[in-house]
Amino acid sequence: MTAMNLRKVKIKGTGNYLPKKVLTNFDLEKMIDTNDQWIYERTGIKARRVSSTEGGEFPTDMAEKATWKALEMAGMEPNDIDMILFATCSPDYQLPNCASVLQQKLGMTNNCTALDIQAACTGFVYGTNMANSFIQTGMAKNVLVVGSEMLSTKVDWTDRTSCILFGDGCGVAIYGAADEGESSEILATTLGADGTGAEFFSQPVGGSAEPINHHHLDENLQFMRMKGREMFKVATRTLAESAKKVLTDAGLTMDELDWVVPHQANVRIIETTAKLLGMSLDKWIINIENYGNTSAATVPIAFHEAIMDGRIKRGQTVLFDSFGAGLTYGATLLRY
Ligand code: UT7
Repeated sequence: MTAMNLRKVKIKGTGNYLPKKVLTNFDLEKMIDTNDQWIYERTGIKARRVSSTEGGEFPTDMAEKATWKALEMAGMEPNDIDMILFATCSPDYQLPNCASVLQQKLGMTNNCTALDIQAACTGFVYGTNMANSFIQTGMAKNVLVVGSEMLSTKVDWTDRTSCILFGDGCGVAIYGAADEGESSEILATTLGADGTGAEFFSQPVGGSAEPINHHHLDENLQFMRMKGREMFKVATRTLAESAKKVLTDAGLTMDELDWVVPHQANVRIIETTAKLLGMSLDKWIINIENYGNTSAATVPIAFHEAIMDGRIKRGQTVLFDSFGAGLTYGATLLRY
């Protein structure tokens, strides 16, 4: 297929779901040696959501609820989706993959392609850019991209340097071909990873290399570990670089950008990145105060919220910009 007949790709619908249980900084004060002021000043977070462990709020449950909203917005039925890309690093099960579980929860009967993406916090942006390629080339018609996480099962709730940061939640988007003459389209994409930073953010125990055993459980070694300061530096640099790359590729200036939907890891990371780019913060969608870092779900949760409250409107240019463990990174520039 030549570049001449690549299809333009648009977002047809979005949705999100946040668990009911709210865990505030004050709640954390009762669990670990921390305080609301430290957490808010260093991260911008006041509360996060925690999924029920009784069921109904596992990553595929949240995805199902969010997808019904997106389908309604798109005016579509589940069987109109012919590919599910499910970004998560906290899947319901080791096997089967979340995308296949979600296919069944949605009652789909079309045996669509179902793939999980593990690119940590960048997973939704990876999924979006992959959906773009599949639809552009005609390999898929309508792709459901999910970012859904239950990180509450992955954090060490005794480690005050990391547990204060994370939360559970889900956001989704349905991508499909734009009609002739429509202004909506994905304008530019970039993805990358720098594996030399693997040790900055990892969960080494529980995989094939180091199957979990009693020693790990006794020593609390089975959880995620993060080197916060190192991550902070890489984050601001890669977020700024990815943003510049997609703007350059699309031939747009910073001023022509209406909204940035960044990964919500720390409000100071967002502020520093905006400063590096010479942008004012009023174009940035920030909701970390309420939800903390929900990994692959932060971008689609914030995006859907900003559409629903009327900030992001059709025809406006929007930048998704993310980074995460790996170290993975990526951005999408689109006209919504
Ligand atoms: O999704 C991608 C993954 N996440 C990230 O990229 C996160 C990136 N990093 C960060 O957001 C920040 O580095 C943190 C929020 C994790 C930490 O903030 P910081 O400003 O880098 O603090 P720090 O680690 O340098 O710690 C400063 C002090 C230390 O005490 P001393 O050594 O100065 O006496 C810590 O022990 O704050 C202490 N501290 C805490 N105090 C109260 C660390 N965590 C806490 C806490 N409550 N929860």
